[in-house]
Amino acid sequence: MSEVADYIDINKEQFKHELFDFLRIPSISTDSEYKNEVIDAANFLLDKLNNLDLDRAEVFETNGNPIVYGELITDESKPTVLVYGHYDVQPPDPMDLWETPPFDPKVRDGDIYARGASDDKGQSFTHVKALEAYQKTGTDFPVNIKFIFEGEEEIGSPNLVPFIEEHKDLLECDMVLISDTAMFAEDTPSITYGLRGLAYMEINVQGPNRDLHSGVYGGAVDNPANVLCEIIAQLKDEDGVIQIDGFYDDVVELTEDDREAYSKLPFDEEEYKEKLGLKALKGEKGYNTLERTSARPTLDVNGMWSGYQGEGAKTVLPAKAGAKVSMRLVPDQDPKKIAKLFKEHVESIAPDTVTVEVNEHHGGHPAITDLTFYGLQAAADAFEAVYDKEPFFTREGGSIPIVADFQKILGAQSILMGFGLNSDAIHSPNEKFALKDFYRGIHTSAKFFELLPDYS
Ligand code: BES
Ligand code: MN
Ligand code: MN
Repeated sequence: MSEVADYIDINKEQFKHELFDFLRIPSISTDSEYKNEVIDAANFLLDKLNNLDLDRAEVFETNGNPIVYGELITDESKPTVLVYGHYDVQPPDPMDLWETPPFDPKVRDGDIYARGASDDKGQSFTHVKALEAYQKTGTDFPVNIKFIFEGEEEIGSPNLVPFIEEHKDLLECDMVLISDTAMFAEDTPSITYGLRGLAYMEINVQGPNRDLHSGVYGGAVDNPANVLCEIIAQLKDEDGVIQIDGFYDDVVELTEDDREAYSKLPFDEEEYKEKLGLKALKGEKGYNTLERTSARPTLDVNGMWSGYQGEGAKTVLPAKAGAKVSMRLVPDQDPKKIAKLFKEHVESIAPDTVTVEVNEHHGGHPAITDLTFYGLQAAADAFEAVYDKEPFFTREGGSIPIVADFQKILGAQSILMGFGLNSDAIHSPNEKFALKDFYRGIHTSAKFFELLPDYS
């Protein structure tokens, strides 16, 4: 095993170069202009898999972006790990806030700056390099491994669920290994056992048949922008409690044990506030910040538009207003059911002076990994071996909807072995990933594969 670890240490520069090549591909799934680049990223991974000694490696076409698949079966009696990652990235805008261009990776102060550095190219690439370290040193790989990389995670994985359903045998595994989450804090590893789900809605309000002079018509005509604000203002009360009938019906409440575990996490609320440039925090009454951001559901406007936004003042009463609203969900909330409740609620409080339309965008189920699952202990010990610290078990606020689908369709638990940090600025300008965590990630992955057979 020390040979494997040595190989990783010796080849750091090479790994970094390869990751940089990966990061130079603008594989933005939300923007159809980048279709070819998305395909380039899939082929980049295929090429990396082909450089390993796998039993098979191929790209599967879908109705959307391709799925990259590879497998190595060493011994049927050994556990099979399905490594999942996504090679698509979020758009980089606003561009002018990047200190260096998003698709021209640069290292500053030990961090790799690039779109996708942490989410998820840098993190998912660790497992490919871990396998390489075994093979290039002639070390028997201790488990069976399958890779699945998709290019549509950032748009809700529309083609992955049907793919998994159609390829249950191919994807059969004992667990899924995913590095697409964050550690609790710097040098403080954690294993994520809970993720939130998502219901994403759009509200469109139509008032008069055209923008109106706000002096001539103002006072007689209901204003879609005002109406939209009134609707949104009614969705939560002053305690941050969501006012949609039935919204909390399926929420699994935190137990005393859960809350005690939360209270033991080393969290500095002052520092948290300061780093965000805030004077005060705000959330649901009766819960603390960590609980609010991981175990409680939320409702937030993600975007809003209406009326005049150019320079100076234009006296106009807008004809339309709109908003995108996301709700983060917790077990056992169902995104479809929540979307329906939201739609019915908004329609019920909409005044008849305007037309209000509510539509649903992609969503996803929340997920919880069973804490008694044996794979988690192997992952915890691997983290400890590399970071010299026992990892915390935490729940996170973000969503990886496919985790619930892996559970449902394949009956497989996911091990969320994140190497990122919440401060990585994923989805934001200047996304970064600590170089040391890229390397420690490769070591942790290699260690995990070494330890796993002893735990099964
Ligand atoms: N990797 C993130 C999810 C994440 C981030 C989990 C940080 C835990 C901590 C993933 O790529 C992502 O951005 N997911 C989307 C959901 C998707 C349906 C668009 C999200 O959470 O907004
Ligand atoms: Mn991700
Ligand atoms: Mn993401």
